[in-house]
Formats: sequence, C-alpha cells, structure tokens
Amino acid sequence: MSGELEGRVAVVTGAAGGIGREFVRGLLGAGAKVAALDKDEDRLADFAAEQEDAVSAGRLAAFGLDIADNAACEAAVERTRDVLGGLHILVNNGAVGMGVIRSDHMTNLIEIDEIEPEVWDRFVAVNLSGAWYMTRAAAGGLLDQGWGRIINVTTSFFTMLRGRFHPYGPAKAGLEAMSAGHAAEFAGRGVTVNVVVPGGPADTPMVPQESGIDRSLMVRPSAMAPPVLWLCSAEGAGWTGHRYVAGNWDAALDPAAAAEGCRAPIAWPDLAQSPVWPGGKPPE
Ligand SMILES: NC(=O)c1ccc[n+]([C@@H]2O[C@H](COP(=O)([O-])OP(=O)(O)OC[C@H]3O[C@@H](n4cnc5c(N)ncnc54)[C@H](O)[C@@H]3O)[C@@H](O)[C@H]2O)c1
Repeated sequence: MSGELEGRVAVVTGAAGGIGREFVRGLLGAGAKVAALDKDEDRLADFAAEQEDAVSAGRLAAFGLDIADNAACEAAVERTRDVLGGLHILVNNGAVGMGVIRSDHMTNLIEIDEIEPEVWDRFVAVNLSGAWYMTRAAAGGLLDQGWGRIINVTTSFFTMLRGRFHPYGPAKAGLEAMSAGHAAEFAGRGVTVNVVVPGGPADTPMVPQESGIDRSLMVRPSAMAPPVLWLCSAEGAGWTGHRYVAGNWDAALDPAAAAEGCRAPIAWPDLAQSPVWPGGKPPE
C-alpha cells in the first residue's frame, strides 16, 4: 500500500481514540494527507506530537471538532480542503460508548431508567447525526470530483439489537441504515460508501477495564486499518454498500482475498426486498 494513496486527502473523526489512531497511521503510511479530528483536543495533541514528522511535512493536520455540531463539521471540511488541498476520503469513526453512562456497563447492563433523555440525545447526535453532518459537508465536493471513499464505523448486529445496550446500539443501527442509503444514493458517481466494524469488542478506551473481558482476546485496533486502506485503493474502487468485519480479515491472504473473506452487504437488505407498495414497486 505504501504510496498508493499519494495525492489523496483523508479526514478521520475520533482520531485520538484507539481505532482512530490506527486509521490515521495507516492512511499516512499509504501516502495520504490526513486531517485528524477529535473532540478531545488534549489526547489529539499528544497523538499529533507522536506524528511530528508528518505534521512538519504538512501531511497531518490535527484539530478539535465536536461532530455533534453541524456548523463545526462544515467548517472542519472547509478547513481540511484549505490546509491539505482537497478531500477524498472520509472516515466517520468518532463516537461515544456506553462507558460514559457507567464503566461497569458490560457486566451490569444499563436499564432504561438509568438513561437520561439528554444522554439519549447526545448518543444520537454524536453516533448518528455526526456522521451525517460530516457526510453532508463532504459529499458535494466528492461527487463533483467523481472520486470519494466514505467509510462508516458502526458495530456488530449483536450490539445493535442487544437489550440494555441503549442508546449506543440503536444509534449505530441508524448509522448502518444510513450507510446503505448513501451507498445507493452515490452509486455510479465515483463515491463509495462502506462500513467497517471490529466484529466484537476491540481493545480501546471505549471498552472500560471493568468490562471483565480478557483484553488480550479482544480485536486489535490495528486490525481496522487494512480493510479501510484496501477500500481506498484502486482495487477497492468497485466495492460499495458492503460491511467488512475487520476481526475476520486474514492478513496472510492478499488484500483482495482478505476483503472477500470478511465482506457482506451493509445492514439487512434481504428484509427490504418486498415492501407493500401501492401499484407495484417503489422507484429505485
Ligand atoms: N472498541 C470497540 O469494542 C468497538 C466495537 C465496535 C465499534 N466500535 C466503534 O469504533 C469507533 C472507534 O471507537 P474506539 O473503540 O476507538 O473508541 P475510543 O473511545 O478510543 O475512540 C472514540 C473517539 O471518538 C472521540 N469522540 C467522542 N465524541 C466525539 C465528538 N462529539 N466529536 C468528535 N470526536 C468524538 C473520542 O474523543 C475518542 O477519541 C467508534 O465508532 C466505535 O463505536 C468500537
């Protein structure tokens, strides 16, 4: 992959987090310029300091962004284009996890009356609306240039449907459905939309120490980068509307075969085939 993404500019949200850092490192390693964005400006600054070579070469720009703020998302996309000279790849990765409600949420699941309405709203704003704001801000330019890659990080279907895993699960289910819709909307226009998930708990700060899970058995955050890099490569150009389970990516295979081995359609398309529609079928 080295050098394959030269000339491309990527935005990664949640870039100071466990998985976001791996996306930034991977994209830089493949030759892209990267805007690393996160609400946690202190952690982001620490991470950027580790990437001093890329910063001083003008290949990495790190700045604060709350993706729950639409105007801030629009400004961040504009700033990326100004500072790095374009925008080609959008990785919607930033999110809040259930640990913000209670750190023992994995062993002592959270009941509905423990979720304040403001907390519900915050999860929807960050984990669903944030990706839409960023996509809306970026989409026009991507479509105009006829080249774009949008990668949305959702979660396992198990987590989406699990009892006592609200608001995280439903907000991510919304993002999964949004990803399918945007893949269909942008199809044939040079802009692909795909989902990448770990496939299970990944060893990042989002999974608190109190989870009780052996961290050495969790998906490595670094496993998330290869499917994203492949989707951004020339080989990935023909693939849209799919989800890639990074935990099933077999690094021993060549990337196309590894992608094949962990790929399925986004969301639940089989259930969408037969709506009861007046007069026959809905328009495409
Ligand atoms: N860790 C897991 O087990 C797991 C499993 C499935 C999916 N995911 C998804 O992977 C992605 C990355 O999560 P992670 O595991 O690296 O967690 P993380 O907590 O390490 O990283 C998430 C990052 O998002 C940032 N963020 C939170 N709110 C934000 C906001 N309003 N604006 C901008 N940035 C914001 C945080 O500051 C943090 O740096 C998330 O979308 C998460 O839902 C994680």
